[in-house]
Amino acid sequence: MKIYKGDALEQLKKIETESIDCIVTSPPYWQLRDYGVEGQLGLEKSLDEFLEKLTNIFQEAYRVLKETGTLFVNLGDTYSNSAAIPVCGRKGFFKGEEYEAFKRAEYLTEGVYDNKKQLSKFYIDKEGLLLYVVGKDGNIVTLYDIDFGMSRIRNKNILVEILGEILEKEKEQQEFERKKNEELKELERRRKTIEMEKEELREKLGLLESDQGLINKQIENTRNQGKVLDMHIKNTYRKIIKSIEF
Ligand SMILES: C[S@@+](CC[C@H](N)C(=O)[O-])C[C@H]1O[C@@H](n2cnc3c(N)ncnc32)[C@H](O)[C@@H]1O
Repeated sequence: MKIYKGDALEQLKKIETESIDCIVTSPPYWQLRDYGVEGQLGLEKSLDEFLEKLTNIFQEAYRVLKETGTLFVNLGDTYSNSAAIPVCGRKGFFKGEEYEAFKRAEYLTEGVYDNKKQLSKFYIDKEGLLLYVVGKDGNIVTLYDIDFGMSRIRNKNILVEILGEILEKEKEQQEFERKKNEELKELERRRKTIEMEKEELREKLGLLESDQGLINKQIENTRNQGKVLDMHIKNTYRKIIKSIEF
């Protein structure tokens, strides 16, 4: 048996891909306790930063898990005796099986959330009120089980914050798509105009080429006439010379 001690992300990086059967973890919750450890999780100023760190760690956890492996995570946003009731009871992911469940999910919304280091997608499942967070590489890296019924205002705020950002990003994306489509249409219009202009120029070139052909023929004719005239002059000279000789 090997024991790795230290920062979760650093230690996970030392472990071989798809070599672990089971991970059980209880990471610090956000902004609740100071464990007095250097580089500790949980005291980040924003939820974004906290999620970003967890996401990076769980991406590594996903990597080291075998295809048949299971991850158990205990994560809420408050401890049991507190007045507030947990809204984010983190579920574990089952590598392989989870993807199937995720694919079956009916989405309430979908958005792109840029947490600076990586682009994550959030999917919210209507039925189970599950919030999936998917990394840029398509792996499901976090999965939240959200209990709207039990939540208090504080918890709802966190959710509203996340959903707000998702919707904001969605709007930005739609606006971007709209502009892109307009630009594409404009480019298509220009392409057609250029195509028509090219066609006109081709026709003009055709006419010029046939004109050139006629001119060439005329030159040829004139040259031939010149030759005939030359011969005629020479013959006349010869006749004159002969008449003088006599
Ligand atoms: C909620 S407690 C879990 C306690 C654990 N279940 C136990 O019985 O000891 C969170 C633990 O994560 C540790 N921790 C905080 N930041 C960490 C990090 N970056 N890497 C690894 N462990 C960390 C804390 O020191 C604390 O011991």
